Amino acid sequence: MDTVRAAVIGVGNIGYFHAKNIFENKVPGMTLAALCDIDEEKLVKAGVELPGVLTYCDYRELLTAHVADAVIIATPHYLHPPIATGALDLRYHVLIEKPAGVYAGAVREMISAAERSGRVFGIMFNQRKNPLFRLAREIVKSGRLGEPKRLCWIITNWYRTQHYYNSSSWRATWRGEGGGVLLNQAPHNLDLLQWIFGMPSALRADCRVGRHHNIEVEDEAAIYCEYDSGASAVFITSTGEFPGTNRLEISGDLGKLVLEEGRLKWWRLRVPEREFCFASDKDFDKIPFDYEEVVPEEKDTGHLGILAEFAGAILNGTELTAPGEEGINQLFISNAAYLSSWQGGRRVALPPDDDEFYAELRKHISRSAQKKIDANTAGRDELCPERWQTNW
Ligand SMILES: NC(=O)c1ccc[n+]([C@@H]2O[C@H](COP(=O)([O-])OP(=O)(O)OC[C@H]3O[C@@H](n4cnc5c(N)ncnc54)[C@H](O)[C@@H]3O)[C@@H](O)[C@H]2O)c1
Repeated sequence: MDTVRAAVIGVGNIGYFHAKNIFENKVPGMTLAALCDIDEEKLVKAGVELPGVLTYCDYRELLTAHVADAVIIATPHYLHPPIATGALDLRYHVLIEKPAGVYAGAVREMISAAERSGRVFGIMFNQRKNPLFRLAREIVKSGRLGEPKRLCWIITNWYRTQHYYNSSSWRATWRGEGGGVLLNQAPHNLDLLQWIFGMPSALRADCRVGRHHNIEVEDEAAIYCEYDSGASAVFITSTGEFPGTNRLEISGDLGKLVLEEGRLKWWRLRVPEREFCFASDKDFDKIPFDYEEVVPEEKDTGHLGILAEFAGAILNGTELTAPGEEGINQLFISNAAYLSSWQGGRRVALPPDDDEFYAELRKHISRSAQKKIDANTAGRDELCPERWQTNW
């Protein structure tokens, strides 16, 4: 094979964006073979805009037609695991949109299908391609920050209007989406938190339902994570603040990193803090440090970078920055945060119990309202890639 024939399942906002990029030859080694959506109007529109591409309104028909080598799944979250599992079982390479799913149980089945298939399985954690996060990870993992102490992330620049929440029936409902900001916008940041700083061992959370919008899921959350090492992480997110903040601070025994406004600030202690603390003979003292600021020259390749890696992995066996099986880690954190918040801020050990979470989720689904959609707000948005990239 010298070109991967890709099919996009779900041609809404992001699915159409991926399809258009592939159609316009922006992804080396990949061509667009087919589109699939249950919404006939969207499918016809996409078919007209991207001519010559096959269209299907049932993903099972698409999969059995074998007109593609790989599928990119950009449907609402609940459908990522069942569609991906079906595709992997039919030996397709699969790239799913984030989040991996809504609850960990279904994601485990998808991961088993990926292992059985031996096919390439990736997830669209496009922010892992951002050079600042990559550098922060490299500094932490290499030990240059010393023993990690604390991570603090304020990520409140995911601002969304009520119009956004009204734009489709699945959004911001337990039945259709399965969560709010922790499952739609902040999965990128929760994934990066664990990618850079490691998986917490327990957490407590407060998820505020409909604090800023008329919705039944959370649009604001605060999570406090514990690590076995004694380190901690504080994570604050919201879709109801403007102007928002994106500030990631990581401190360790050898200094501090701050990622903010598109730059990485790095304070490097000349003496480890733990050593200095017990060696100093003054009450108030300061540790000598060096300071540098990094503005990366390397570009953030984002979604296109993940798509190009997916094609490269299929054609040449090269590595993925975001392997699909790693998608479950973000869900462990968000599932645990919901459990904690539903149970009055209880401490939840990670990974949370799959069955307990699913049982609680089902209670929320059973109370979930059927959402009516205003015809004026429904449909595909204008392409808005800046909304989907790392914003500072
Ligand atoms: N990585 C990113 O930057 C990013 C950005 C936006 C959205 N997303 C993710 O992509 C997914 C889709 O989000 P969106 O904003 O594009 O939503 P959307 O509602 O605009 O699009 C979803 C599409 O899936 C279609 N669909 C529903 N059920 C289907 C089925 N059974 N078969 C085929 N198509 C089906 C819908 O008709 C709709 O067109 C979500 O999981 C979201 O979290 C990721």
